[in-house]
Amino acid sequence: MCGIIGIAGVNQVAPKLLDCLKRLEYRGYDSSGIAVTSGDGIERLRAVGRLSELESRMESKTPSGTTGIGHTRWATHGAPTVENAHPHISPQGTFCVVHNGIIENSEEIKKTLLQGDFFESQTDTEVFSHLLEKYYIGEPINAIAKALAVLKGAYAFGILCSDFPDVVFGASSGSPLVAIGCEEGGFISSDPCAVNEKIKSVYRISGGEICCVGKDRLLFFDPSGQAIEKKPESITCKMESMSKGQYPHFMLKEIYEQPRAVSDTVNSLVKMGSVFLPDVYLDDDFFRDELEKIVIVGCGSAYHTGLCVKNMLESMSGVTCNVEIASEFRYSQPVLNKNTLTVFISQSGETADTLACLRLAKHCGAKILSIVNVKGSVIATESENVIFTLAGREIAVATTKAYSAQLAALYSLAIYIGRIKGKLTSEQEEKLVSEMLLLPSKIEETLRETEALSKEIANDICRAQNIFFMGRLCDYATACEGALKLKEISYINAQCYPAGELKHGTISLVDEGTPVIAILGESRVFSKTLSNMCETEARGACVFAITDKAKETLLSQKHKTISVADTLSLFRPSLLVLPLQLLSYHTALLRGCDIDKPRNLAKSVTVE
Ligand code: AGP
Repeated sequence: MCGIIGIAGVNQVAPKLLDCLKRLEYRGYDSSGIAVTSGDGIERLRAVGRLSELESRMESKTPSGTTGIGHTRWATHGAPTVENAHPHISPQGTFCVVHNGIIENSEEIKKTLLQGDFFESQTDTEVFSHLLEKYYIGEPINAIAKALAVLKGAYAFGILCSDFPDVVFGASSGSPLVAIGCEEGGFISSDPCAVNEKIKSVYRISGGEICCVGKDRLLFFDPSGQAIEKKPESITCKMESMSKGQYPHFMLKEIYEQPRAVSDTVNSLVKMGSVFLPDVYLDDDFFRDELEKIVIVGCGSAYHTGLCVKNMLESMSGVTCNVEIASEFRYSQPVLNKNTLTVFISQSGETADTLACLRLAKHCGAKILSIVNVKGSVIATESENVIFTLAGREIAVATTKAYSAQLAALYSLAIYIGRIKGKLTSEQEEKLVSEMLLLPSKIEETLRETEALSKEIANDICRAQNIFFMGRLCDYATACEGALKLKEISYINAQCYPAGELKHGTISLVDEGTPVIAILGESRVFSKTLSNMCETEARGACVFAITDKAKETLLSQKHKTISVADTLSLFRPSLLVLPLQLLSYHTALLRGCDIDKPRNLAKSVTVE
């Protein structure tokens, strides 16, 4: 999603703004811009496409000044054009604004409060710059508070005021923004890791709060504009996560970081052979006597992790576990109450649809538990109970290590509930936990042993127009993740179907040489899926199988088969997904795609 940076008190601020924007690129964007104020007005530069376009514009005309804002835009309202690129300037040039989020009532504001104004762009953000100027009578905090009070929707703003050239203002509600004090100056940013300076203090801005950042001062205000004190956050940035190391792409680096991601996550949730959830405050009585239903909510890959562990959660809890797509769930008038455990899965902790579902569940009185990879993110801070995945910062848009860490967190939750509900004796729990502790080494073994064949199959499928993935039960969930990985970075039309469903229509699409990738992990339906695989092959499909070593001998040699390390069936999704990640990576590589920043996609979708 969009990235915001603001800097105050740094000499020649323009190159520094660009440098920070480069560390925000991973969020996904299609245009960018900066604005600098130096006491005699505001200078602005904008460009469509990659930051290199903005950089080349800067070379011919570098704005001078010590205070500025910058933005990488992922288009929502209005196409990716220069006119729609941020920053946006108010009619008299008093205010300049960058924004991450959506102002849902921007058209209504245009028609009522800003009637007759001329708008350069189609964006909702420009409306806010006009509002600021409308309410400005010489005191910017007051103008910002009044303008924010009119808005509906999520926002993080960076704001320049030409009358106050040595400070940057910020405000946030529902989109990430931090204020940072450094040796060199003051910063605001969507992501603290965009600031490659010696950080003295970091403050998360949220809930409509406003900040004013200068060279050596950070001031904070509540949504009404009253001054407040804030406590600094302990946000650390492991800068090595922002470098590819010896890998050609962040995605490959993060694929190979999965053993560590799973190991760190599991070790943070296991003590003396038993699962404990340090940031979950629900009583055992709730799980034992009150729990009636579990609802898991997520988007994309996060949704798929829920599908992978649904059956395990049901057998451990003894209650129904529904897995919902957030953007659907939020409008479905769901039946939730105090006996429902709602589990929100989000790597970024910023996904707008998932956050909206969390707030809906909270309104319905349901118990809230989130599984999040970014500490201090909006979803984490709005959840009473959290399981943090310790995958480290994930830069590639296509998630891999966070996905595996989410699976580990969900397994741990299931075992934890199973123990409380008496579904697991302590010996059974110990057996599960000891196998879960072996997952990192089995992930390492599987990656090492399957990359070569994954690369070979990538060569077989990289020219295909359409590819089908299929599986049954948890294998269907893994197949969904495999299809998503492949389509999002190679741009091949990859679709996933329950294996038994193909013959109810989709099999008509199978043509001579159509690649079909079958996931054969579930023992109880192995022969059924095998039959479905043969049905497609009988119609010309070129079939590839992903299974485990114990079942490999059951498959005929004529299919290229990747077999992963053996483990308990509950944990098998963590291994079956690995060759699918490698297959997607190598297919995208062969097709010359932008693997870490695939077209049209963003790392966190902070808009609906
Ligand atoms: C997965 O590779 C995608 N990047 C996407 O589906 C992602 O999983 C989804 O947008 C959810 O993001 P979140 O986990 O940050 O909420």
